[in-house]
Amino acid sequence: MSVASVRTQPFAGQRPGTSGLRKKVTVFQQPHYLENFVQALFDILPSQVGEFSGATLVLGGDGRFHNRVAVQTILRMAAANGWGRVLVGQGGWLSTPAASAVIRRHRAFGGIILSASHNPGGPDGDFGIKYNIGNGGPAPEKITEAIYARSQTIDVYRSLDGVADLDLSQPGRFELEGMAVEVIDPVADYAELMESLFDFDAMRAWFAAGHRMRFDAMSAICGPYARAILEGQLGAPAGTVVNGEPLEDFGGHHPDPNPAHAQELMAAMAAADAPDFGAASDGDADRNMVLGRDFVVTPSDSLAVMAAHATLVPGYRAGLAGIARSMPTSCAADAVARALGIECHETPTGWKFFGNLLDAGRATLCGEESYGTGSSHVREKDGLWAVLFWLNLQAATGQSVEQLVRAHWTRFGRHYYSRHDWEGIPTDRADALMAELRGRLPSLVGQTLDGLHLAQADDFAYTDPVDGSLSSRQGVRLLIDGGARVVFRLSGTGTEGATLRVYLERYEAEPARHNLPVQQVLAPLIALADQVAGIRRHGGLDAPAVIT
Ligand code: G1P
Ligand code: ZN
Repeated sequence: MSVASVRTQPFAGQRPGTSGLRKKVTVFQQPHYLENFVQALFDILPSQVGEFSGATLVLGGDGRFHNRVAVQTILRMAAANGWGRVLVGQGGWLSTPAASAVIRRHRAFGGIILSASHNPGGPDGDFGIKYNIGNGGPAPEKITEAIYARSQTIDVYRSLDGVADLDLSQPGRFELEGMAVEVIDPVADYAELMESLFDFDAMRAWFAAGHRMRFDAMSAICGPYARAILEGQLGAPAGTVVNGEPLEDFGGHHPDPNPAHAQELMAAMAAADAPDFGAASDGDADRNMVLGRDFVVTPSDSLAVMAAHATLVPGYRAGLAGIARSMPTSCAADAVARALGIECHETPTGWKFFGNLLDAGRATLCGEESYGTGSSHVREKDGLWAVLFWLNLQAATGQSVEQLVRAHWTRFGRHYYSRHDWEGIPTDRADALMAELRGRLPSLVGQTLDGLHLAQADDFAYTDPVDGSLSSRQGVRLLIDGGARVVFRLSGTGTEGATLRVYLERYEAEPARHNLPVQQVLAPLIALADQVAGIRRHGGLDAPAVIT
């Protein structure tokens, strides 16, 4: 075994997006592609974060196709670059929230997570890699930009020659060129953390009383975690977790827990014999969807309901320091924060913007409209954690999901909400649409279009209150009198063409109007969005591909 320096050349486009570097598997399979990115990361860490020689790195992924190959490559490179120890999940598996928990618990220097989240997997699907820092959260932009810059000049990477793949199928310990490799149970640390936060006795009693639940792991990494906790520790009947076996191609499905992609679960929850509680998580287990019997909870409402009831959950009994939501997420949480007299932060899209607020103790719960909810317990959103939170609320109150949400609307008003995704727009056309829209903003302020008065029209910019860093161009917003909003932004996680996301929100205080069809309530805003942005004209499309 020997350390080898391998000559290489930069690849264009290795800039991490909203959540790491995501590309087609076939792109990652090109010789040196993954190696360049990993070496660029190792090269910039000493100046951006600190010396890692002898330090601990956490490594794991969502088990998608190419995970097994990539883990072995990274282990060899870590050894050749002087890391002291790597904690790697058994089988190369770690869900994203579990990776965050392991980094924090073992005080690791950082971690590498292999995932393309909710994007489809398999040989023709997507793959991804991202770096998380010592707080367990995604690296901030300063670091991801430095990785990108380095990737554009890289000419050599270090790895080991003549090393066979390690057998990661069982917990154990290896040594690679002086570096320790510890294969850990991917579930244990995470399960212990959950037990420290939730009232497991009350939840066991809820199941013992005959309540039923269906958790759809969508053939992705959350299966082993959900089985161990729900069926193992909480005594839910076997079969509560469905699609619980992680598959490299997610069974050919799109592992995204929303009404459009979790159709099997939607159907089961609408059936006559539906269980009390339905839930799903995504490819890397950081997203969640919660459902009552024939009742969908929007992620924005979910965050607000959780915040309003947080003190019913042992881990949050002392109350919340604050709430944070991404800008396009509905303002439902803001209403709760006002009632609780706590801060509510509005950040750009992407979990990395919550890290500083959580570290500084200025937020306890965070959420995004994209089926992401989490708290200060880790520095990632956490799908199963959110599901356990809702389970704890049902056990503590004796109320159903629907009762909890309807009571919430009566108290705070309802924030009708929907997101329309226009997928597969040629990148140049999407860029032209956004440029034209940005150009129109100054003339839109103060205008009344079809009876909607635009009080404000701008491009969202965020100054981090903790470190003062500025992130601009984070999404175009039209703010309408009465609390309605339309937001436009381009996705930063796709791997083909551009996706325009249009976020629509309208507030309704009157309980008599809390039961209307969502798209109908939002119809005037949908029309306004197309009128102002010319989506059909620019995009050459007739309708959004996905409506959630
Ligand atoms: C999407 C979501 C965003 C989330 C990210 C990672 O990013 O919109 O809220 O943080 O996935 O899960 P986007 O594709 O919109 O850039
Ligand atoms: Zn995810």
